[in-house]
Amino acid sequence: MKFQGSDQYVATADLMLAVHAAATLQRPLLIKGEPGTGKTMLAEEVAAALDMPLLQWHIKSTTKAQQGLYEYDAVSRLRDSQLAGIEGSERVRNIENYIVKGVLWQAFEADRPVVLLIDEIDKADIEFPNDLLREIDRMEFYVYETRQLVKAKHRPLVFITSNNEKELPDAFLRRCFFHYIKFPDAETMAKIVGVHFPTLKADLLAAALKNFYAVRNLPGLKKKPSTSELIDWLKLLLAEDVPAEALQAHDEKVSIPPLVGALLKNEQDLTLFEKLVFMQRNNR
Ligand SMILES: Nc1ncnc2c1ncn2[C@@H]1O[C@H](COP(=O)(O)OP(=O)(O)O)[C@@H](O)[C@H]1O
Ligand SMILES: [Mg+2]
Repeated sequence: MKFQGSDQYVATADLMLAVHAAATLQRPLLIKGEPGTGKTMLAEEVAAALDMPLLQWHIKSTTKAQQGLYEYDAVSRLRDSQLAGIEGSERVRNIENYIVKGVLWQAFEADRPVVLLIDEIDKADIEFPNDLLREIDRMEFYVYETRQLVKAKHRPLVFITSNNEKELPDAFLRRCFFHYIKFPDAETMAKIVGVHFPTLKADLLAAALKNFYAVRNLPGLKKKPSTSELIDWLKLLLAEDVPAEALQAHDEKVSIPPLVGALLKNEQDLTLFEKLVFMQRNNR
């Protein structure tokens, strides 16, 4: 297998290496990184590049591990049993009709290897990763209702993302290959912007990146703007036809860039930024 990024996705060398390592070890690739660093997109892009189907499981705070395997729909069964006549009770008697397959089951029974994305695993409660250890390790699980063992026909390529909101248990970590997507440096960021806006003028790009990193590097910021916010901001700058000069202060100091609301998303950060700009102006 070979994954080298794509027309839409810039993959750094260490990220490609991590994807290959996880595939070689046949272990899930656990990807951490700030929100907006392309974790979810990576799984989508790998699936597209390797021409594999993608199965996604987006985790919420209420998600239980069992839901990824299967769920027993007792409510429908009860309703059917009340509505069905004598002839309809055939369906009700067979419990298999009320077993709803989860994403893992779908991945296990697929006829060819799939990419399985377990997105934002840190959203779930602390037991969630532990509850999936056996399934991830052995690629099998047991359906108690039907006394059936579901085994993966092909081992899926598993991507697990985390925004680092919670620590993951050691037993779980041991089974994964880990990669942290570092926030892109200016050079990588210029490439990422390039795939989104191939015709962006160099002077606007340079000025925008300078502003962006100045905002990001502000000490004490509650929420640093991410790649996706930079892309939104550039989209706006282009739509409004903002010239590069409008982003450059007359001196070397920071100024408040136009449409800064695309980058800073809360009033504390905005106030902090304005204060800094104000202080710098007065210090001249
Ligand atoms: N390496 C990259 N190459 C191209 N676009 C990227 C890259 N990283 C981030 N992006 C942009 O940022 C957006 C957010 O990425 P996403 O995968 O949703 O981030 P995460 O899952 O880490 O929060 C993407 O839709 C894409 O526009
Ligand atoms: Mg994501």
